[in-house]
Amino acid sequence: MEFRFTEENLERIKKEISKYPVKKPAVMAALYIAQEQNGYISNEVIKEIAKILEMPAEEVLGVVTFYTMYHQKQMGKFHIQVCTNVSCMLRGGYDIWNRVKDKLGIDNMEVTEDKKFSLEEVECMGSCGTAPMIAVNEDYYENLTKEKVEEILESLKNTN
Ligand code: FES
Repeated sequence: MEFRFTEENLERIKKEISKYPVKKPAVMAALYIAQEQNGYISNEVIKEIAKILEMPAEEVLGVVTFYTMYHQKQMGKFHIQVCTNVSCMLRGGYDIWNRVKDKLGIDNMEVTEDKKFSLEEVECMGSCGTAPMIAVNEDYYENLTKEKVEEILESLKNTN
């Protein structure tokens, strides 16, 4: 299905482009805006961004696959990222990961049937000092325990 940015989002991208002498550096912002509008980065999104920024689609795809914040398929309303990198791992990151998996009944990069939750195991998210941590969409939850994670999931389950 073809993808087109809304007028408003196109303006946002143009504003980003105007910050640089060439168009390419606006790719991260353009992808972020696209994901906000479309829910995920489809091939059509990649083609459209490549066209707007006058860069090869392969390079746009390279950025998408490099950063964990971009998704290539529709994720849940609450996308949960669990860090299992060294600092988090040493402080119980895998206990957290397993608890979330059990509680939601899904595995890495899966989405619950009701589309409410999706799950992703990720590398360091820069909060090592407050490990272990998870992110729910763009919000960080830090210094976690298995119990705290359960509470967070419960409250999200009850959120519409
Ligand atoms: S290792 Fe988990 S946030 Fe850095």
